[in-house]
Order: sequence, then structure tokens, then C-alpha cells
Amino acid sequence: MSGLYKFFGMSAYEKTFSAQKPIRVVPSHSPKRSFSLKKYFVTSAVSVAISRAIILHGAIVPTARIFGVTVSHGRINNNEKIAALTFDDGPYGEATKRILDILKEKNIHATFFVTGENVQRYPEILRGELIAGHIVGNHSFNHSKTLVLRSAHKIKNNVLQTNHAIFKIAKLHPRLFRPPYGLKSPFMIGALKKIGYTIVLWDDATKDWSAKKSPETITKQILKRLKPGTIIDLHDGRDAHRKFPRQNLIAALPGIIDRIHQQGYTFVTLDKLIKEKPYF
Ligand code: NI
Repeated sequence: MSGLYKFFGMSAYEKTFSAQKPIRVVPSHSPKRSFSLKKYFVTSAVSVAISRAIILHGAIVPTARIFGVTVSHGRINNNEKIAALTFDDGPYGEATKRILDILKEKNIHATFFVTGENVQRYPEILRGELIAGHIVGNHSFNHSKTLVLRSAHKIKNNVLQTNHAIFKIAKLHPRLFRPPYGLKSPFMIGALKKIGYTIVLWDDATKDWSAKKSPETITKQILKRLKPGTIIDLHDGRDAHRKFPRQNLIAALPGIIDRIHQQGYTFVTLDKLIKEKPYF
């Protein structure tokens, strides 16, 4: 027995010591240490930059899901050629009326993400959207760029305030929410999911809200990103601005619809594309 102990003892002893590297004392002012500190700071800076990039990506990119489940594409079967047209920031006076006329002429139903402020300003247009068979979603009360930075409580209040404004006019409580500028945070997603909302972004958009985008460019860029199940994001309004020109989109819209139809697509409202109820 003692032979065995001796054997294992010896081997353990040998292993322990053979695995250890000789200890070297490096003076703090030596070039070796300053190099490793530099390496540490560079590594830290890089990881901070990467974390920031990931957070920004999650907040800004509509299709990013790192903060939780959001919807940016249809839930479709077998590459079914369906797509949804969505319009944000309205109702917006004459611009929305003209868009409604185009949709009626083309016999299409779309989804309007409205703001509470604009709903109060144009209640008749909101009613017109619903009477024509379109779907309405919640796009926050005042389209604030900093909503994403607010507490879960404040975000929830803003969204509920918007639904209240919609309900007063339309007797409907939308459950599809699109954050202003598509900016989302884990607090936002968590708080709204808890009370039953679905956050809907998009996967096909261009700066159609810019007065500098020609109708041709808007059309070209929207068609480029089209695929089965696409959620197209256009703007009948413009942020919380007043009298912001929408004529480039209005000029482009009939052509966008025609060319998408020519590719064999059918337009459906968002609830049908993502297979979820539009209202509570
Ligand atoms: Ni918007």
C-alpha cells in the first residue's frame, strides 16, 4: 500500500510541480508590463465599441431582434407572394386623402400606423381609413425621437394614451405598435409585450418621407427589397411636422402598386400577413 501511495503521491507531486511555470517578477516600469496594459485597454475599448455597436444595431435596425421578439416580415407559407403596404405618421390631411383614393382605385387594403396627435387633428380621416377597410396601428402619441430612452412606465403611458385617442373616435384598440423611427429598446419591447402588444417594424423602406427622393428612386428602391412576405414602410405623414410635402410618394404610389402586382403579388393587411389580431 505504501508503495501505491508513494507511486501516486510521487506522480501527483511531480505533475503539480511540473505543470507550474517558474514565477517571474516583472518590474512595473518594464516595457513588458506597459505593453500588456496597452493591450488590455485596446481590448476593452474594442469590446466597448462592439457592445455599443450591438446595442445600436438592436435599437435602430428594423429587422434586428436582439432585444426581444419583434416582427419585421410576414409569417407566410411556401414563399406565398403576399406583401403588406403600411403608412406611418398620419393621418395627414390631404396627403392621406389622396393615398386613400389611390388605394381605393387599385382596390387594395393597407395598414396605417397613426399618431395620437394626428388622430385628434384628423378624426374624420381616421374614420375614413377604417370605413374603407384598412387596418390601424399605434405609432405613439407624439412621435418622439426620445421615446425609446424613456422608462417602461412612460412608454406604456404614451402607447395607452394613443390607443385612448383612437378608441374615442374609432371604438377600436389597436394591438400592433410601431415605435417612432423604428427605435426600440428591451424596456419598450418587454413592457408592451406584457400588456399584449406586438411590435411591428418593416423590411422594405426607403427615405420616401424626404422631399429630395424622386418618385422614380422611391419606386426603384421599394421594388429592389421586395420579397414574399415583405412589410413595406411608407409615410402618409412626416414625423410631427406640418405641411411637409408628400407629393413624391403620392406620385410614386400607383406605379409601386402596379409593378408589385405585375410580379404576381397580392397586397394584404398586416394582420393577415403576420397572422395576428389587429385589435384587442
Ligand atoms: Ni414614424
